Amino acid sequence: MTGTSASARATTAAPPYEELLTLACRAPSVHNTQPWLWRATATGLELVADRSRQLLHSDPDGRDLAISCGAALHHVQVAAAGLGWASHVRRVPEPGRPHRLAMVSFTRAPVSPDATRLLQALAARHTDRRPLGSWPVPPEQLHSLARSGSRWGAHVLPVSDGAVRQRLAELTARADELQRSDTAYLDELALWRRNDRGSGMPTADLLRREPAPPEAMEEEGVGLLMVATSSDDTLSRLRAGEALSEVWLRATQKGLSVVPMSQCIEVAQTRAEVSGTVLEDRLCPQILVRIGWLPASREPLERTPRRALRDVFLRT
Ligand SMILES: Cc1cc2nc3c(=O)[nH]c(=O)nc-3n(C[C@H](O)[C@H](O)[C@H](O)COP(=O)(O)O)c2cc1C
Repeated sequence: MTGTSASARATTAAPPYEELLTLACRAPSVHNTQPWLWRATATGLELVADRSRQLLHSDPDGRDLAISCGAALHHVQVAAAGLGWASHVRRVPEPGRPHRLAMVSFTRAPVSPDATRLLQALAARHTDRRPLGSWPVPPEQLHSLARSGSRWGAHVLPVSDGAVRQRLAELTARADELQRSDTAYLDELALWRRNDRGSGMPTADLLRREPAPPEAMEEEGVGLLMVATSSDDTLSRLRAGEALSEVWLRATQKGLSVVPMSQCIEVAQTRAEVSGTVLEDRLCPQILVRIGWLPASREPLERTPRRALRDVFLRT
């Protein structure tokens, strides 16, 4: 035994970063680009945006990139809580330093049953684009997911009005058409579908079509949630990603499937209409998600790959 007191150990010890970051990097990201880097600092971990992995054509202003990094930031907090650590997060995107997104420090904390369940959901979560079962998602479940997501600093809103849902499906179809008629977009998509060095989409996802087809929004019983924010800066997008990740993990716990439908927000022309139609121009749309029940008898899916930890974890 050393003379170090328990309280001193509690403030100086660090979580097992490799285990923590392996879990955090299971986070969803646009086209599985995993556009994040983690740097160990004297006080914890720094989350840095890897702009070399930005989809310059379909995501020119980095919205999907920041949302993906926000999902990883939420994942690191969930993983830490499940391993017995409380996270203290400072979200720090600044105009002069667009790469540095957040600093996280950790202190020891007891593991709650909820933290254990959420960590299990993190390990189980994945994108499943197969057709949904026709049982409707009960409105109270959607509202409960929306409330959980909204605690993370974004507005998560159920979209239940039939006319608005119909318009969103049309706008998604329009965005899909515009993107697919653009060769630069298709080249970029093909690049990330190649699935080398632990990122991109596996071939099996090609067969299921990624992005999920617009008609997926019109399936019977599908629930829609819109994640929106009052500003449209990097901090807001980071928060939107944290909210998306919270919704996704809570939905996974309940056996619900979640698929983000980002196209109608990626295309500037349709984004403006989404803002007007769904949000009365009062909030900025960040990401739309489709939620539903998968048929019970489905086959397990191959998981999307992840980059090697040595490529995303900078120790100095
Ligand atoms: C910001 C963002 C946008 C996404 N947009 C779409 C989309 O439009 N269509 C789709 O099918 N999946 C979309 N996804 C899901 C990703 O393709 C998926 O998370 C990634 O391939 C990793 O696979 P996994 O979720 O199974 O771990 C999106 C994910 C994020 C974080």
